Amino acid sequence: MPKVTIYNPRGEKEAEGEVERGTSLLEASMKLGGHHGSACGGVCACSTCHVWVKKGFESLTDMEDGEADYLDRAYDVKPYSRLGCQAQLADQDVVYQITEESENTWYDEHPKERHEAEAKGLWPPK
Ligand code: FES
Repeated sequence: MPKVTIYNPRGEKEAEGEVERGTSLLEASMKLGGHHGSACGGVCACSTCHVWVKKGFESLTDMEDGEADYLDRAYDVKPYSRLGCQAQLADQDVVYQITEESENTWYDEHPKERHEAEAKGLWPPK
């Protein structure tokens, strides 16, 4: 099973673990505890699951036209950008960083965690 390592937008390791081949990066984040937003619920109709893939980019499933169209609307797109709900793992380990856009969406989707992070002074990031 491929190992996934997830970093937050500030470059801090957020989660790590093994997941099944064929798992999307968004599903991996949800399983392992990454703060990975998904405003459309993972149906390729937004860009809030945008990640930067730092290792294993070539091993992921190919990008379809629909993903490319929505990725064009994301902030700070890089040559190693993918939409986490569309990119699926093969056998190779993958390292990726959740973008600020995606983390913000995750906190919008998790108000309880947002309030807890605000109370601890952890959100918004300094
Ligand atoms: S969650 Fe909307 S495109 Fe991935």
